[in-house]
Parts: sequence; structure tokens; C-alpha cells
Amino acid sequence: MSEELTAPARIAEGRVVVVTGAGRGLGRAHALAFARAGARVVVNDLGVALDGAAGGETPAEQVAAQIRERGGEAAVSTDDVADSEGAARLVRTALDRFGRLDTLVNNAGFLRDRMLVNLDEDDWDAVLRVHLTGHFLPMKHAAAHWRAEAKAGRTPVARIVNTSSGAGLLGSVGQGNYTAAKAGIAALTLVAAAEFGRYGVQVNAIAPAARTRMTERTFAEDMAAPADGGFDAMAPENVSPLVVYLGSAASEGITGRVFEAEGGRVTVMDGWRRAAHADKAARWEPAELDAAVRDLLARSPEPEPVYGAR
Ligand SMILES: NC(=O)c1ccc[n+]([C@@H]2O[C@H](COP(=O)([O-])OP(=O)(O)OC[C@H]3O[C@@H](n4cnc5c(N)ncnc54)[C@H](O)[C@@H]3O)[C@@H](O)[C@H]2O)c1
Repeated sequence: MSEELTAPARIAEGRVVVVTGAGRGLGRAHALAFARAGARVVVNDLGVALDGAAGGETPAEQVAAQIRERGGEAAVSTDDVADSEGAARLVRTALDRFGRLDTLVNNAGFLRDRMLVNLDEDDWDAVLRVHLTGHFLPMKHAAAHWRAEAKAGRTPVARIVNTSSGAGLLGSVGQGNYTAAKAGIAALTLVAAAEFGRYGVQVNAIAPAARTRMTERTFAEDMAAPADGGFDAMAPENVSPLVVYLGSAASEGITGRVFEAEGGRVTVMDGWRRAAHADKAARWEPAELDAAVRDLLARSPEPEPVYGAR
């Protein structure tokens, strides 16, 4: 049966979607899924190596070509999402090529894993830059466009889907830089949702898990495709339906939330919230806080374990 015949409802029909880091892995799966759901897609990828080093590859062109082969429409951006001019150009590409922008999926990034004690400042800066700045700048430029649209009386049905990580939500040993960046993205999602709502923009984040070059070495056994041809839970294509849904008009009213997506499972991640409290209505003595803090912890839920902690 052809892909068209088996395609689900085209819930992104008519939308123009930018996907960053869409040349490989999860971003590639998202771009193809959006095209299949009827969207025109700007496929962005800088084509860098797993640690961010210049790679000399052109994966964005390949994914755009694949979309066109399947009858879809795609434009290519090879801009660096963490560069202000690059992020501005990325948004302009959607407007120049397709005349509009409806959805921004922030997904690009890379890793430089080290224990904190061995983490060089360069590796700290590079990972914070690509993930956190690489989310902030495309959001800023896209939101400036949407704000102008709203002010001109054309309030959009706009969507942003950010990419956090289990590391950013629970912590991950050996990934201090990445954890800080991904925690920042989760918090930034809350602020963006609160600030952009008045311009018709909803902002959510996902924490995905899938087999890509980023994970295939560390988690090779856990993430391998089943030999018996059963459901391949760790295929990146399993994460994309949630991204397409959140990036479509159908997700009306859902904003400022973080969802974990893995295989066939979608989980709402419930963030920081106040647990037990003690109020002395006067200043505490440091020594009396020993009993007070232990009592508070006994009356509060245990935190989820940090990934990789023994
Ligand atoms: N794979 C997982 O299980 C997993 C888990 C949690 C979070 N994530 C996140 O999902 C996203 C996608 O990861 P992936 O596993 O598909 O990795 P990947 O390496 O396959 O894809 C990332 C892509 O981003 C591109 N990129 C890197 N820096 C860029 C820049 N400055 N501008 C534009 N493009 C750039 C790379 O060239 C690459 O093609 C990342 O943000 C990652 O942190 C992945």
C-alpha cells in the first residue's frame, strides 16, 4: 500500500513548519512526519559532528530531497541556530519561501559529555550555546514575527515545540553541561508560553528518548531494534507524532507543558512544585533547622533518581 493511503489525517495541512537539526535523528523524523501530515517544511541543519565539530555534510539537503520525492514541499536552511543572524535568517527562509510561519520545532544540538571535575569551559560554553541559546534565538525571531502579525490584526495559530531531555528534568551523571542546558530549556518554555500566549503562540517541550547517533553507542543494547520484527520502540519516528500534534492547530489550549515521549508512551512531566513547608513566623536559628528540614523531607515525596547515579 502506498504511504499516502496509509497516512493518518493530515493535521498539519497548510502549515509552514521550521524544524532545527532536521538532517538526522529525531529532527529528520519530525520533518518527514510534518510533511506527511500536510505541512511545508524548512529543514534546518548545520551538518556538524556529534560533538559539534564542523562536519562538511549536507544532511538538510538530503531530508528536503526526500520530502520532495514523496510529493511534499521543503526548503533548506544550513544556518547555525545559536547565531543571532543565523536564527533570523532561518525564520526569514520560511517567510520568503512559503510566505508564512506557523510552527517552530527547536531540536538541534550536540553533546560533550564529561564529569564536572573534568569539564572544560569550552565544552560547557559550546553545549549551553547550541541548546539553550539555540532555542532562545529562533524563538525570539519567530515570536517577533508573530507579534507583528497579531498587532496587524492577524493573530496566528502558532506553535513552538522545544526539546528538553530526561537529563534536564532529572539530572544525568557525566552530562552537567547538557543537563543545565536542557533544564534551562524546560524553564524557558514556561516563560515563553506565558509571554507569547497573547500573540496566539503556544509553547510546549518534549523530553524524547530514541535511537540516534546521540544515544546509539551509550545505550546500544537498550535501544536496539527487536530482531523479531516487533514494535521498534526506540525508533525516532515514534516521538514525531506528539511533536506534529503539539505543532498543529489541534493542540489548542495546551501550552507551557513538558511531555516525555518514548516508544508508544507519552507522559506528562510534573515540574517543581512546593511540597511540605514549615513557617516559624520568625527567623530560624541554623541549628534548629536540622530537625525542621529532616521533618520536611520526611513529609515530602522522594525525588526521582538522577540518571546514571549509583
Ligand atoms: N536521542 C535521544 O534519545 C534524545 C534524548 C533526549 C533529548 N534528545 C535531544 O533531541 C534533539 C535531537 O537529537 P538527536 O538524538 O536526533 O541527535 P542527532 O545528532 O542525530 O541530531 C542533531 C542534529 O542537530 C544538528 N545541529 C547541531 N548543532 C546545530 C546548530 N548549531 N544549528 C543547526 N543544526 C545543528 C546536527 O548536525 C544534527 O544533525 C537534541 O536536542 C537532543 O539533545 C535526544
